[in-house]
Amino acid sequence: MSKNTGEKRAERPRVLTGDTPTGRLHLGHWVGSLENRVRLQEEYECYFLLANMHAFTTRAEQPQEIRRDTIEIVKDWLAAGIDPERSCVVLQTETPAIAEMTWYFAMLLGYGRLMRNPTIKTEIDVKGLGDQYSFGFLMYAVGQIADILAFRPAYVPVGEDQIPHIEMTREIARRFNQLYCGVDPHAEDADAVKAGGVFPIPEGMVGRIARLIGTDGKNKMSKSLNNTIMLSDDEKTVQKKVNKIFTGRQSPTEPGDTGNALFQYVEAFIRDDEMAAELKRRYAAGDNIGDGEVKQEVGRAINELLAPMREKRKQFEGPGGDDVIIDVIREGTKRANTVAEETLRLAKEAMGLGFFERELGIG
Ligand code: TRP
Repeated sequence: MSKNTGEKRAERPRVLTGDTPTGRLHLGHWVGSLENRVRLQEEYECYFLLANMHAFTTRAEQPQEIRRDTIEIVKDWLAAGIDPERSCVVLQTETPAIAEMTWYFAMLLGYGRLMRNPTIKTEIDVKGLGDQYSFGFLMYAVGQIADILAFRPAYVPVGEDQIPHIEMTREIARRFNQLYCGVDPHAEDADAVKAGGVFPIPEGMVGRIARLIGTDGKNKMSKSLNNTIMLSDDEKTVQKKVNKIFTGRQSPTEPGDTGNALFQYVEAFIRDDEMAAELKRRYAAGDNIGDGEVKQEVGRAINELLAPMREKRKQFEGPGGDDVIIDVIREGTKRANTVAEETLRLAKEAMGLGFFERELGIG
């Protein structure tokens, strides 16, 4: 990285987002957020966080799998177009300012407020945690506030389900600024830093399709529901999975419902607007068009999207591939720590904790 690019980077507003490594990425991740991230690299200084500490909150007994998933997800990111020359891939467990800030933010967040967070409630429900979840599981939501604020970003591109976390982050940023930086409670969010706050009030940014339906034609695409198309699936697998999308339509001459699951895929993946409109018109009219024909076009469009990703992924699949990835993580994390440590220093100074300086080293 030349010094020049480094200086240029510093002028751009920041973007931070992350994924908990739970396995390879699928099309739902692509349309919900990943596609946005690739685009945002053009204009923003981007930080993409590997939330591997969060993976331990529900899978503490599977450290080796978490390690594997952490490396695999970076392969998906790079294959999809995340450019490590421009953006930082950040390892949460080697960015200690995040863990430290989690403590301070935990003091600013009421327990009742956290338990009313609908994403936390849903996760407890969906993962069947009952009342068996660890203390650390609840901590992850506070940790996510620290993930974000450590980078003082302008935007946080996420899936729709993460918006309650962004909302909580905004509340804590405001509270911190008011409590420790003397920011007027009536100050506009956009003026937070100008008014003396350490933290800007970041905005969430949801992708063009907030909730991609799975190949079961019913539920949101999700690994645990076995209804995914993976970014790393091969061509045949993609077409086979597309062919399974259930619509319930009986015949090519029956007027079809263009709001059905299959047409969500047409909308999401067929970028040729004319073709999409024509398919839609014929389907709605029952103009001799079977689901099979639509599925062929959808499969082809998805494969067109994924072909370059598959090609790129090959680079990291041979021997030594993991080492390349670990280098990318090390370099990104090094740069990220400069920002996160600076944020922590500013926050601690505001809190009257600026006793003396410290420096951090990554080998
Ligand atoms: N909780 C997020 C998810 O499950 C992942 C995540 C961790 C994240 N830290 C973040 C997302 C910070 C945005 C910003 O998808």
